[in-house]
Amino acid sequence: MKTKISEYLEEIKALEVKSAEQLEGFRVKFLGKKGLLNDLFEDFKKVAPEERKEMGQLLNSLKTSVQERLNELKEMVESTGGSDEPSLDLTMPVNFSRLGTRHPISIVRNQIVDIFLKMGFSVAEGPEIEDDWHNFSALNFPPEHPARDMQDTFFVEHHPVRGDLALRTHTSSVQVRVMESGQPPIRQIFPGRVYRNEAISARAHCMFHQVEGLYIDKGVSFADLKQALLIFAREMFGPETQIRLRPSYFPFTEPSAEMDISCLICGGEGCNICKHTGWVEVLGCGMVDPNVLRNCNIDPEIYTGYAFGIGIERMTMVKYRINDLRLYFENDLRFLEQFESVY
Ligand code: DAH
Repeated sequence: MKTKISEYLEEIKALEVKSAEQLEGFRVKFLGKKGLLNDLFEDFKKVAPEERKEMGQLLNSLKTSVQERLNELKEMVESTGGSDEPSLDLTMPVNFSRLGTRHPISIVRNQIVDIFLKMGFSVAEGPEIEDDWHNFSALNFPPEHPARDMQDTFFVEHHPVRGDLALRTHTSSVQVRVMESGQPPIRQIFPGRVYRNEAISARAHCMFHQVEGLYIDKGVSFADLKQALLIFAREMFGPETQIRLRPSYFPFTEPSAEMDISCLICGGEGCNICKHTGWVEVLGCGMVDPNVLRNCNIDPEIYTGYAFGIGIERMTMVKYRINDLRLYFENDLRFLEQFESVY
């Protein structure tokens, strides 16, 4: 009988339960009418009188231990909902983790893309390592033409197969790829990173971002270009924004223009962002040169089109009043944390 008592004590100590039913099972097993303890009390009746006192005490303390252990288990089951998992307490304070912020260049690129999507443009991309044809020749830069000097190119040296690869100097190269691979109507924008061999300073960088736009169809005119750009400028910088187109030169457009927006910062009064002119240059544009259309197997007698190239860094500078291009690439958290967080 003594061995049984100590066996039961061990068993009850080691007992673990996962649910209220299981607990009830154990209660019946030990304390039920036909349970183990009642059996022991039956046996007790047969115990010799000289052992009764000791056995009685052992038996009673076993009963108390069983009851205490079952109560303990009952509390556990009630507080954890009876599962192994920690309970789900919806009133606990939330453990906020620090989230990142979106890079200002990405914010402005997304805004530009959203505006043109609303105007019916779709988005395409091209490679950052380009060949001479797509970056220059097809865009009407003749070989040895001084216009190529406008852009200081990073060439890819020692390529085993091709000697004409370079990091693209502008996203205009994607125009060529798109026109070569399909016929008009084409209404697309091409966001991407571009590279130029420039000394890094507050106003120049060797890598930056552009969004190129291209619209080719029958009867597209300069007026269409101007209207699209006006809508874009007002969506981007507010309904009061004025635009101005100045004649310019690009080999791939004729006529070509550069677009200024009225300076948001001083409202035209003159400040150091607009260099006291009241206007800030934000993009280049023009009507696609017939030579370019021909190079891409599009008949300029049937189709016309416009193109534009937006500098994202420049737009971001104006929007957020950032006066040093280097900040975009330094990964300084004190700068980056000032922008919209990524929720
Ligand atoms: N590719 C020019 C640059 O990087 C920008 C540009 C100007 C793009 C006029 C165009 C355009 O599509 O029509 O400076």
